[in-house]
This record gives sequence, structure tokens and C-alpha cells, in this order.
Amino acid sequence: MSNKTIYVEAGGGYDKVVERDSEVRAPQAGEISVRLHANSLNYHDFAVVSGVWGPTEDRIPMADGAGVVTAVGAGVDEFKVGDNVVSTFFPQWVDGRPHVLGFTTVPGDGIDGYAREQVTASVNSFTLAPNGWSHAEAATLTTAGLTAWRSLMDDGALQPGDTVLIQGTGGVSIFALQFAKMAGATVIATSSSDEKLKRLSDLGADHVINYRKDPKWGETALKLTGGYGVDHVIDVGGPATLEQSMAAARVGGQISVIGILGGVTGDLAFVPALIKQLRLQGVLVGSRAQQQAMVRAINANGMRPIIDRHFPLSEIVEAFRYQESNQHFGKICLDI
Ligand SMILES: NC(=O)c1ccc[n+]([C@@H]2O[C@H](COP(=O)([O-])OP(=O)(O)OC[C@H]3O[C@@H](n4cnc5c(N)ncnc54)[C@H](OP(=O)(O)O)[C@@H]3O)[C@@H](O)[C@H]2O)c1
Repeated sequence: MSNKTIYVEAGGGYDKVVERDSEVRAPQAGEISVRLHANSLNYHDFAVVSGVWGPTEDRIPMADGAGVVTAVGAGVDEFKVGDNVVSTFFPQWVDGRPHVLGFTTVPGDGIDGYAREQVTASVNSFTLAPNGWSHAEAATLTTAGLTAWRSLMDDGALQPGDTVLIQGTGGVSIFALQFAKMAGATVIATSSSDEKLKRLSDLGADHVINYRKDPKWGETALKLTGGYGVDHVIDVGGPATLEQSMAAARVGGQISVIGILGGVTGDLAFVPALIKQLRLQGVLVGSRAQQQAMVRAINANGMRPIIDRHFPLSEIVEAFRYQESNQHFGKICLDI
């Protein structure tokens, strides 16, 4: 049986992306086989494929995969043939506290991922997808959806009436907006584009700020809360945004330290973190149990993800070039 598969050869780089066949095998005990139908793109996948953090050996990229169960191994009672499923970022972090260091066990980075038609993997590599979602919609959840969910709902213990600040209009931030509104929070959203700010308002953002026109956007956010401050900041810029994130936060507020869109090093005025008694919580996606909780909440609320554009799997490089252009709003997906 053929299995169309994308590989990134050792070192990574768009010129090292090749299409090949890969092995298809029957599931053993505790495993399922899945016909994959979609991936979604994340900055992390971009880093692997583009060679920013290229793989040390030939690697099947993409952490986010969704499809249909085609066979189950002995002892598997959680899934049946025909179930729609979505991959987990940490197949070895099933529940409880974080205990997995870095990316060595992550599909699409340390191990082979889901840029292929078929895969056989442990049950912990998947959860059920939300009811009624397309495969592309389900594939948006593994990385971006779960990062936003875990940051707000578990680390942040978000309460109705809290204020959440999101930055930019990428996958994580748009999910954070949607989950925050689902939970009854007030959302302050930023973007570099006035057109995208309008779309953020249409999605329910209560206040919007153009972070390019207003470099002190954190102070503006603080004013918007009447000087009280933001309860939860979803920080995706890192060194470029942390100073203003701290300016926006309330005393005792939480900043989820998620992204590095503004670079990996930089000077940081640290004193505001002490004065304001801030909680800077580093985040690396989440556990399988957190993903299952997120899917339950989605099923109960009928929310749908925002997909900007689809590409066929064979146009994976074009899809990443589009992501690099920052034109997108929400998620970019590959159809397999
Ligand atoms: N720690 C984790 O578990 C985890 C999980 C997922 C992602 N991440 C990280 O989180 C970041 C966002 O990921 P993503 O997948 O959501 O990315 P994405 O979809 O590629 O987001 C790109 C958008 O971010 C905004 N942006 C870019 N530079 C910015 C800056 N300096 N300040 C504010 N906004 C900026 C832009 O929005 P506008 O065009 O609207 O300005 C841009 O369109 C990445 O660094 C990624 O590696 C971390």
C-alpha cells in the first residue's frame, strides 16, 4: 500500500523538502492506524522545515495531524474504526504535571510527524476530534489550540469577567480570543494591521490596539482596564513584547510566556515583574488530558476554529512561505 509522505532531509531548508513513500504497518497492541486528512502549520513546524531548527536526520514534519481511525490493535477500547481523531503534541505527557523536556519526543521534530497519508501510533498519540469538525479544523488544535487552552484554563484558571490580552492574529492568539470569550472574559487584542483589528472586533474582541502605531500598547491596555491591569497576557513576541506585557498586567497577574516571534534574546527591564508580583509562566503546549478537556469544552460550546487558507500537502513549502509573509489570520492548513 502506498503512503504519500513529505520528508525534510537532515538539516532542513525548503530545498530539502522531498516527497517519498513511507512504511505502512498494522497496529500492534495499544496502537491505532489513522488515515490522515489534514495538518495545520505552526511556527515550530516552520522552524523544523525551513532549517531554523532543522532536524538532525531525515524527518517527516508536522506535529498537527487529523484523520480517521482505520484499524485498532489488541487491547484498544478507547477508539474504534471510523472515529475522527487529532494528534497530541506530547504522546508521552498523558496527564498531570509537565515532565517532558523539550522536543525530542514531539512528532514532526524529535520523531516523525504527520505529513503523510497513513500512520500507526500509540493511542496516546491521538484523542477524539470535536464532534462535527472537518479534519482540517481538528488539525488546528494540537499545538495552537492546546497552548491557548492550557495557558488560560489550567495555568491561568480563567474566571468570567477576567481580562485577557492577546498579541497579533496568529493561531495561538486567535484561539486564546475564542476560549477567553467562551469563558466570559473581556479581551484586548493587538495587531499590526487595522484590517485585522476589524476582524478581531468581529470575532468578539472588546478592545483593539494597533501595536505598530502604538508602541506603548501595554500602557494603553492598562488604561483600558481603568488602571487595574490585565489578568492574563498571552505573550507570543518574547523579548519584543514582554516589557509591554508587564506594563499591561495587573498586580499578581499572569503572563503566559509562549512565543518568540520577536526573537530569542533581548534586554528586559526585570523590576516590574517584582513590583507587580507577576507570574511569568513558561508554556510548552499541554498534556493529552488537557487536550481531551479542551475537546469536551468545544463540543459543549459549538465553537469553530478560524482557518485562513488551505494548501494541498504537496504545496507544503508554499504554505510555509505564506505563513512567513504574516498575511494570515488564524490557521493555515494542509489537505492530505
Ligand atoms: N510555547 C508553546 O507551547 C507554543 C505553542 C504554539 C506556538 N508557540 C509560539 O507562539 C508564537 C505564535 O505562534 P503562532 O503559531 O500563533 O504564530 P503565527 O500564526 O505564525 O502568528 C503570526 C502572527 O503573529 C503576530 N506577530 C508577529 N510578530 C509579532 C510581534 N513582535 N508582536 C506581536 N505580534 C506579532 C502577527 O500578527 P499581526 O499580523 O496581526 O500583527 C503575525 O501575523 C510563535 O513564536 C510560536 O513558536 C509556542
